[in-house]
Amino acid sequence: MTDTKPILILGGTGKTGRRLAERLTARGIPVRIGSRSGTPRFDWEAPASWAPALKDVSAVYISYYPDIAVPGAAEVIDAFTRLAVAHSVRRLVLLSGRGEHEAQRAEEMLQASGADWTILRCAWFSQNFSEGFLVEPLLAGEVALPVGPVGEPFVDVDDIADAAEAVLTGPGHVGQLYELTGPRLLSFADAVAEIAKAAGRDIRFVRISHDEFTAAIASHEPPEIVWLLDELFTQVLDGRNEMLTDGVQRVLGRAPKDFSAYATETAASRIWSN
Ligand SMILES: NC(=O)c1ccc[n+]([C@@H]2O[C@H](COP(=O)([O-])OP(=O)(O)OC[C@H]3O[C@@H](n4cnc5c(N)ncnc54)[C@H](OP(=O)(O)O)[C@@H]3O)[C@@H](O)[C@H]2O)c1
Repeated sequence: MTDTKPILILGGTGKTGRRLAERLTARGIPVRIGSRSGTPRFDWEAPASWAPALKDVSAVYISYYPDIAVPGAAEVIDAFTRLAVAHSVRRLVLLSGRGEHEAQRAEEMLQASGADWTILRCAWFSQNFSEGFLVEPLLAGEVALPVGPVGEPFVDVDDIADAAEAVLTGPGHVGQLYELTGPRLLSFADAVAEIAKAAGRDIRFVRISHDEFTAAIASHEPPEIVWLLDELFTQVLDGRNEMLTDGVQRVLGRAPKDFSAYATETAASRIWSN
């Protein structure tokens, strides 16, 4: 590769960004981690930190924090993508979410920015069960959520990182929107049952009301995260996303990873074992 400028990975220590950084580094492609612990420090809440992070990079992987569904996220993405293009960083890849009003507005901002854009619009990550707020309840043996039998096509973040690597390093992906899902619809009860089986433990799933859910998490999550989690269960898990897509196949030429493979592999790390 002739371009030795780094690729800036926003959220480069998070679920998808960390894996993308590993993949690019293994191929000898330089990366710059864009997060509050990166050098230079990148902070979504400090716009003055954006330009130094964009200096002399060839492309940006944009993983917004805390969530692309948060009101106002689209305006932040608008400001950031315009700044990137003004700094001659035209190749921008956005990690987005399915069926979320604000996420789709953020996608429109990117598309209007003048960038050479690609959008990875993703289902719920399987790794929310092992690298997010669901680890603790799984360990405790009971997962209580305000969600019924709706099917979600959980996607493995290894597939997302593979897709991000492919679109950032190969031709033909500019102007493409890929909707990435796993190969199977599972309810949250199904997912918890698969994890319980893989971990060899008894773990219950209980459907609770939204009020019970927000009251339960308010003791250990900040108010904005309480709002966000409840909003995701209300807005996105109403059946609108209850369908599979061929995005992983289109980008990678192979089937997406099944949730059972994720559960078996992750259980072997003993993260769900007491
Ligand atoms: N989780 C899902 O199921 C899902 C599904 C579809 C789309 N998405 C989207 O994926 C994105 C990432 O979500 P995630 O849950 O997977 O999180 P994550 O990437 O695991 O989030 C953590 C990352 O954000 C960085 N970060 C935290 N605060 C920051 C700040 N103020 N400024 C800059 N960087 C900051 C962290 O690094 P430092 O601590 O070093 O700053 C870390 O790299 C979100 O936009 C979300 O909407 C998620």
